[in-house]
Amino acid sequence: MARIVLENLSKTFKGPKGEPVYAVNNVNLTIEDRELLVLVGPSGCGKSTTLRMIAGLDEVSRGTISIDGTIINEVEPRDRDVAMVFQNYALYPHMTVYENLAFGLKLRKYPRAEIEKRVREAGETLGITPLLDRLPKALSGGQRQRVALGRAIVRQPKAFLFDEPLSNLDAQMRVQMRTEISKLHQRLAATMVYVTHDQVEAMTMGDRIAVMKEGVVLQIADPIQLYNHPANLFVAGFIGSPPMNFFRGALRHEPDGACFVEQGQTNGEKAAGFKLKLPPEHSTKLASSAGKPVVLGLRPEDITLSMNGAVATSGSTVDAVVELVEPLGSETLFHLNSGVHSFIARLGAAQRMAPDQKVRAAFNPARFRFFDSMTGQAIA
Ligand SMILES: Nc1ncnc2c1ncn2[C@@H]1O[C@H](COP(=O)(O)OP(=O)(O)OP(=O)(O)O)[C@@H](O)[C@H]1O
Ligand SMILES: [Mg+2]
Repeated sequence: MARIVLENLSKTFKGPKGEPVYAVNNVNLTIEDRELLVLVGPSGCGKSTTLRMIAGLDEVSRGTISIDGTIINEVEPRDRDVAMVFQNYALYPHMTVYENLAFGLKLRKYPRAEIEKRVREAGETLGITPLLDRLPKALSGGQRQRVALGRAIVRQPKAFLFDEPLSNLDAQMRVQMRTEISKLHQRLAATMVYVTHDQVEAMTMGDRIAVMKEGVVLQIADPIQLYNHPANLFVAGFIGSPPMNFFRGALRHEPDGACFVEQGQTNGEKAAGFKLKLPPEHSTKLASSAGKPVVLGLRPEDITLSMNGAVATSGSTVDAVVELVEPLGSETLFHLNSGVHSFIARLGAAQRMAPDQKVRAAFNPARFRFFDSMTGQAIA
């Protein structure tokens, strides 16, 4: 059982002039018992610092960390009963895999038989039993990372903390290890905090995801909620690959209903672009934003394409030019330009369009997301 609660957690470092610089800024986060929570965000956003404070490797500047209701700010790292797995797995080079796995338990004076039992079990769980007598230098990167995982598993900790454990592996091995860690999570039913800057890892592994930027947690939600209802422009642009398309413009209320009018610049000149009718349910939600600058967000898969001249559903299509085609085998990405904005449509592999071709892009209005241009916060 391990429920980890971070309350008003901050970490400051001294800046060049002695001023405090926030690496982590007032984070409030609850990691439920047996949950796999992913902390994701760009480089430098405070992910590792947050994790290191939970592990006790970095001192807390302000706020509290508690596990199962007990504040652990002052508890020594080795008494916290959490195990951390790092990116550079730093195995002891002169020890065999078996000895590497056993080392932590020996230090903690576990009985020999118990050590043997735990090491064998971890070996089986991770599929590294045949490697137990080898030295780390005789292992591949993926095998070494498994041993590093094993060192955490044998401790049977209350919680596992992972800091980008897969980033030294090649793309294929990453995918394999990713599923292995997910399976491990199901099997061990342990609380896990997993740090990554890779949004695919975050989406596929997390029960919930906390998106961080500049020391602040911007949104905490399950993957689908995060994908479908990002709380702000940053999350909308960070989660999803290719990212959500953004169109700057304004909302207008016209006699026949609300509409979005694209606005932007073409060659430094202010330019008006396309106009899209909004479904009635949007009109009510957006009423207070009428006339204000907004950003329309739409995911690439919510756009379909037809040749110019095809029959269009009135008010929901945009004329565009194909700039680039990226065939990915299972699907094709079309880079398009509306005259004011570039955007991407994701379509089935069968769709054929060539660069410079004029097309009509149909936007799915049910999937429109609107953000306040000034604050970046979601409006609807
Ligand atoms: N010892 C330190 N002294 C001063 N600043 C630090 C120190 N450690 C970290 N920082 C700063 O704190 C911020 C957060 O760092 P942190 O390592 O937590 O980022 P991260 O999200 O893990 O990034 P990455 O994805 O690159 O690992 C960064 O701006 C970093 O430069
Ligand atoms: Mg880091």
